[in-house]
Amino acid sequence: MLVEKNVPLQPYNTFHIVAKAHTLVRVDSDAAVHQVLADPALAAQPKFVLGGGSNIVLTGDVKPVVLKVEVKGMRLLQETDRAWIVEAGGGESWHQLVHWTLLQGYPGLENLALIPGTVGAAPVQNIGAYGVELQDRFDSLDAVDLQTGQVFSLDAAQCAFGYRDSVFKHAAAPADATSGRQAGFRGLGLAGRALITRVRFRLPKPWKPVLGYADLDKKMAETGISQPTAQQIFDWVCAIRRAKLPDPAVIGNAGSFFKNPTVTPEQCADIIAREPKIVHYHLDDGSVKLAAGWLIDACGWKGKTIGQAGVYEKQALVLVNRGAGAGSAPDGEDGSVPQGATGGEVMTLAKAIQTSVYERFGILLEPEPVVV
Ligand code: EPU
Repeated sequence: MLVEKNVPLQPYNTFHIVAKAHTLVRVDSDAAVHQVLADPALAAQPKFVLGGGSNIVLTGDVKPVVLKVEVKGMRLLQETDRAWIVEAGGGESWHQLVHWTLLQGYPGLENLALIPGTVGAAPVQNIGAYGVELQDRFDSLDAVDLQTGQVFSLDAAQCAFGYRDSVFKHAAAPADATSGRQAGFRGLGLAGRALITRVRFRLPKPWKPVLGYADLDKKMAETGISQPTAQQIFDWVCAIRRAKLPDPAVIGNAGSFFKNPTVTPEQCADIIAREPKIVHYHLDDGSVKLAAGWLIDACGWKGKTIGQAGVYEKQALVLVNRGAGAGSAPDGEDGSVPQGATGGEVMTLAKAIQTSVYERFGILLEPEPVVV
């Protein structure tokens, strides 16, 4: 086991924020995690699990031991007449997995193309795009409990998936004082406790395209293709994302910075009366989802900058690092590397956006990335 000290994290977070890990260990198997947990110097220290670093804002050096998940492997586990079951290591690139499944002839993940990050991080925030969420294709996962070293598996119900949410985002709730029991599985909360090593996906047969999302409808109209293949949907989603969202390899960012808020029909009617153009979607449960990007845009934030943190010009929901890009080369005469935005600047910008959206619409936007 190699224990690295003072490791720059700039290459390992898609915002390209400059910060260091005091201690970093790369784990490529369950055994490697067990080695860390058995090590007298590391065992008692708090741990921080790092996937692709695509949904975090680093606000300083990371003191907990950083466990960088590098568990690899992609395989067809089982094929029945109803589904392909595919398994992938938590350290695999999410987009590589989507691409590989299509090449192998196992369609179903195409709407989720080009989402940055790793396979192991995908269930944590239940990634979603263009009408599909991870939970729609999820079978089960394996993880190691970082407190006990126990290996365990969870199915979809146990992951308690919600919109950009899961059991992995919630801290353990204290035991219920009245009954002495924990309040359901979600109450157990696994934030900071589980290292996801492998994820299994259930890709249903026969494959059916998921369309009906405005941007995909536009592609169908433009191309005249009314029955696209999975590969065509993959290509369209890649093109839509490339046109709208900044490539983290070029401009540091963590995708959507805020969740799209949900309001009651009454609240929505009240807002529409004041803001007739507000973009909103009716959900099956009767509530209404508002486009956070529209709310931020309406407050005039698009293209604005605080320090070196900015609001992306083409999509107001995405905050960007206007300084250093990925693997920035030394550019000063002294050979210094550009520092770019700090996590503090990103959070100052985020708070200013929250305040102005709240003052105008009475809605408090909830950040999507994990602030470290
Ligand atoms: N809009 C504006 N101005 C903006 C941005 C958006 O008016 O600056 C309007 C758009 O015109 C559109 C609506 O807001 O009518 C929604 O925009 P879009 O279709 O781009 O989707 P989104 O709600 O901004 C969500 C996800 C994305 C995902 C897309 C496609 C969240 C927080 N974000 O974005 O996920 O790719 O839908 O499904 O749910 C991510 O989570 O990191 C992410 C990129």
